[in-house]
Amino acid sequence: MDSGDLLNEDEELPDSVIESAKLKAELILEIFKTIGIDAVNVGELDLVLGLDYLKELEKKYSFPFVSTNLVDADNKPVFQRYVLKQVNGKTVAIMGLYGDTSEMAGKLADITGGALTVQDPVKAAEAVVAELAGKADYVIAMTHQIANRDWVIARRVKGIHLVVGGHDRQKTPDPLGAGDAFIVRAGEKGQYLGMLEVALDGSKEPVNTLVPFDESIADDGKVQGMISAYNDKVADMYGGGGGDQPAAADVPLRVEACAPCHSSQVAQWKTTDHAKAYATLVGKSKQYDPKCLSCHTIRFEQPGGFNMQEMQMAFVNVQCESCHGDATEHLASMKPIPVADPQIDLCLKCHTDDRCPEFEEEKEIVFDKIRH
Ligand code: HEC
Ligand code: HEC
Ligand code: HEC
Ligand code: HEC
Repeated sequence: MDSGDLLNEDEELPDSVIESAKLKAELILEIFKTIGIDAVNVGELDLVLGLDYLKELEKKYSFPFVSTNLVDADNKPVFQRYVLKQVNGKTVAIMGLYGDTSEMAGKLADITGGALTVQDPVKAAEAVVAELAGKADYVIAMTHQIANRDWVIARRVKGIHLVVGGHDRQKTPDPLGAGDAFIVRAGEKGQYLGMLEVALDGSKEPVNTLVPFDESIADDGKVQGMISAYNDKVADMYGGGGGDQPAAADVPLRVEACAPCHSSQVAQWKTTDHAKAYATLVGKSKQYDPKCLSCHTIRFEQPGGFNMQEMQMAFVNVQCESCHGDATEHLASMKPIPVADPQIDLCLKCHTDDRCPEFEEEKEIVFDKIRH
């Protein structure tokens, strides 16, 4: 199961990346169907491409989206409220809850334009538990909310055995005991599979393992094929298939405009990995994927930056302006550069925790590598 925010990472998508985001969403659903997913909770980021679109996907893939407390204007549930699964002769019910704190409700309202609202998750969960009396041996709640609210669901709703927390990106290697229930969470971005082992006779405590998806797990041929097909489609979508895109090497980069006055900085920059960030994507055939270009180009989809329509080769790589800000006025009339002394916060926008977990601790080392 998956506790939600499966299909998107961002609350807002620039128009030019919507089509590729839809392809990506379909790729994910196809892969999850292949894996044999039982239930996926609906998170606010799954609604970014529109409720109608999500319903379309649900139908097209017979996809098991579950939401117990997201309702439409008539207070009617929009997705199935729970699913029942037979596991080793036991019946397991899986429901999906969305948090009702003002922050969560606000995100939902912004993203769906008010088409969906959230009902009290405790009451909604209690209603499901009552409905399931005598019908299910185990009741699991996938949650999508601020992590500390998981304790409220686990402790207050009698009859829930397990809370599988989502939205808050946390990972809890050991199951957290909460009243008669347990809480588990498996982190974010598909880095781990959370695997909970339970003795049906209650003879031992549940054991939870976060299985890392690292190199030790071989790629699946069928899934690899789906990913290659997706890459080809994205390339076609953005003109890559036509072969009319100039090669990066043929177009002078923005840094060349700085060279007359800052030659030593430019020379140093050319020795860093930042100067080959675009080549890295080309090496992976990912140079047309907006999800990758965002950190491997300048000012992605922002005014005066790289955008998917034009794919300006002058703006590829992590260049001076990725750290020092838009230099247009500095170049035109020697106005001061926007960011004279970039700080670590700026690096962390790209060097995110999941990619570079040691980055902050190794601040001295990483700054030394780029010093110019
Ligand atoms: C025509 C010469 C010229 C060009 C071209 C030029 N700069 Fe500068 N830059 C200067 C001068 C002169 C200063 C020092 C001005 C000052 O101290 O206020 C400076 C200062 C800077 C500083 C340091 C600011 C500080 O306060 O320490 C940065 C960063 C910078 N430039 C980045 C760039 C980038 C990036 C480009 C290319 C996009 C660029 N510059 C192009 C002349 C130039
Ligand atoms: C716009 C996104 C972006 C920003 C901002 C950024 N980086 Fe990077 N950085 C990258 C990318 C992408 C790579 C990988 C390039 C490659 O190998 O193709 C990278 C690679 C590096 C590397 C080499 C790999 C390693 O870990 O040894 C260092 C060092 C580094 N960055 C330091 C910094 C520092 C320090 C800052 C802030 C002052 C910073 N970066 C800001 C995107 C960024
Ligand atoms: C949030 C910013 C960000 C996004 C989005 C991003 N990257 Fe990167 N990428 C980085 C940074 C930072 C590094 C340097 C990290 C390091 O060297 O450890 C990097 C390094 C890399 C590297 C070289 C190091 C390695 O891990 O082998 C590859 C390859 C790469 N990225 C490919 C991709 C692809 C493919 C995508 C899209 C699926 C992507 N990146 C999306 C920031 C990003
Ligand atoms: C990864 C982020 C990053 C990139 C890319 C980057 N800089 Fe810097 N730059 C910094 C940081 C951080 C400083 C602060 C001073 C230091 O620690 O060296 C700095 C300082 C400077 C200064 C002031 C120099 C001094 O000696 O005081 C200039 C000029 C400058 N950069 C120009 C450039 C130019 C030109 C480029 C592109 C070729 C560039 N920078 C690319 C992060 C970056």
